Amino acid sequence: MKKTALLLSTSIAVFSSNIFAAGDPVAGKALHDEANCLSCHTKKPYDPAKTNTYEKLVKAVNFCNVNLNTGWFDDEVEHVVAFLNKEYYKLKQ
Ligand code: HEC
Repeated sequence: MKKTALLLSTSIAVFSSNIFAAGDPVAGKALHDEANCLSCHTKKPYDPAKTNTYEKLVKAVNFCNVNLNTGWFDDEVEHVVAFLNKEYYKLKQ
């Protein structure tokens, strides 16, 4: 019984630390490649002049995520944001 409670609290801790962890650009690149975002964004390049705050970047990624039915969870959106920010936008968080 005690063991179960301990296991449960450990997995909750791991789970919540994932949600609040900063995005991982390596995981983000993999997700971004997999979702084939460049099928549109090669012709329509990511534009740091337009998306000029970190908040806007999160919103823009979520916009395409929702519209394309990519099905990313918030932590996956964070990974992709981290990747795009490192690669293209270089915004302050
Ligand atoms: C079907 C075409 C299409 C695909 C595929 C697509 N997008 Fe977009 N994306 C758009 C359009 C349209 C906009 C809005 C551009 C505008 O407002 O001018 C946009 C805007 C964006 C922006 C802001 C653009 C900027 O100039 O800063 C980001 C970031 C973005 N998308 C990320 C993604 C990600 C991540 C994916 C992969 C899940 C993705 N997009 C896939 C069409 C697409």
